[in-house]
Amino acid sequence: KTLVALAQKMPKTELHLHIEGTFEPEQMFAIAQRNQVELTYKTVDELKAAYQFTQLQDFLNLYYQGMSVLLHEADFYDLTMAYLTKVHSENVVHVEIFFDPQGHLSRDVPFEVQITGIYNALRDAEKKWGITSKLIMSFLRHLSEESAFETLEQAKPFLKWIDGVGLDSSELGHPPEKFINVFQACRDLGLKITAHAGEEGPPEYVWQAINLIKVDRIDHGNRALEDETLIAEIKKRDLTLTVCPLSNLKLCVVTDMKQHPIRAMLELGLNATVNSDDPAYFGGYMNDNYTALIEKTGINKEELFQLSKNGITCSWMDQITKEAHLKRLD
Ligand code: HPA
Ligand code: ZN
Repeated sequence: KTLVALAQKMPKTELHLHIEGTFEPEQMFAIAQRNQVELTYKTVDELKAAYQFTQLQDFLNLYYQGMSVLLHEADFYDLTMAYLTKVHSENVVHVEIFFDPQGHLSRDVPFEVQITGIYNALRDAEKKWGITSKLIMSFLRHLSEESAFETLEQAKPFLKWIDGVGLDSSELGHPPEKFINVFQACRDLGLKITAHAGEEGPPEYVWQAINLIKVDRIDHGNRALEDETLIAEIKKRDLTLTVCPLSNLKLCVVTDMKQHPIRAMLELGLNATVNSDDPAYFGGYMNDNYTALIEKTGINKEELFQLSKNGITCSWMDQITKEAHLKRLD
């Protein structure tokens, strides 16, 4: 119990968060109504009852449906502000959030509409509460590299608001090597690079993320633990793993929270961090993720501090901001 209180109080960062995955059913229905869009599910309860997944794709099908009610700048603003309000109440001091432009461009929602809504909410939350942030545009890996290149073109007028580029959606069958050229173009533009790898995909996909995409960090990375040489490589390169405990449980990446590998990752000396991924779909925000770890894995106080510290040091904040946050940890 005291550990739960400690975790709630700790300054936290969120480094793996899809803003479309924070879409709570109540808000989804409200915006659907406002935009006169029909949802497949008729009630909040019916929708929530469908949140039972046996693999990543089950979730993605609902995730793309859910985001389809987002049409206007105010929708993106309201979604982002609701998330920031929530995490502010949980002592989250810094967020690095993903958005999926192709999931909206496919419905003719302009890039500018999406990013302006999201960016304005990030800016307002920083003014109001001092929450700092980075914005990461993700490419959908089930689409082509050509589509990713077109998205990058759309992003070019807004690069001042974009800190990094990610790779998400259906992992199996869509290895990082499919996107070598577009990530090289992103790197040439000075953008940070991250990619989902080793969530469902094999260690080979993590190798590709490192060697071909040249990632600055790895999202999930669970299956890297199957390959000792890969573990050594991740350590050598000092790469971060953005781990998502409740997501792993809901998507059956782990069968039981008691078996979650995050303590093993810390034991191996890996830079693991705790994140909520798609909290509206996976049963909880940052504090819920920590609570699950505390209640099921026997994680101790030192490990909790290490995770909080990793969240700060492994973020893309500048060094001065990191040091200011780290001071508050002592
Ligand atoms: N994995 C892959 N794609 C995603 C995820 C995830 O956990 N969340 C949103 N898009
Ligand atoms: Zn994710």
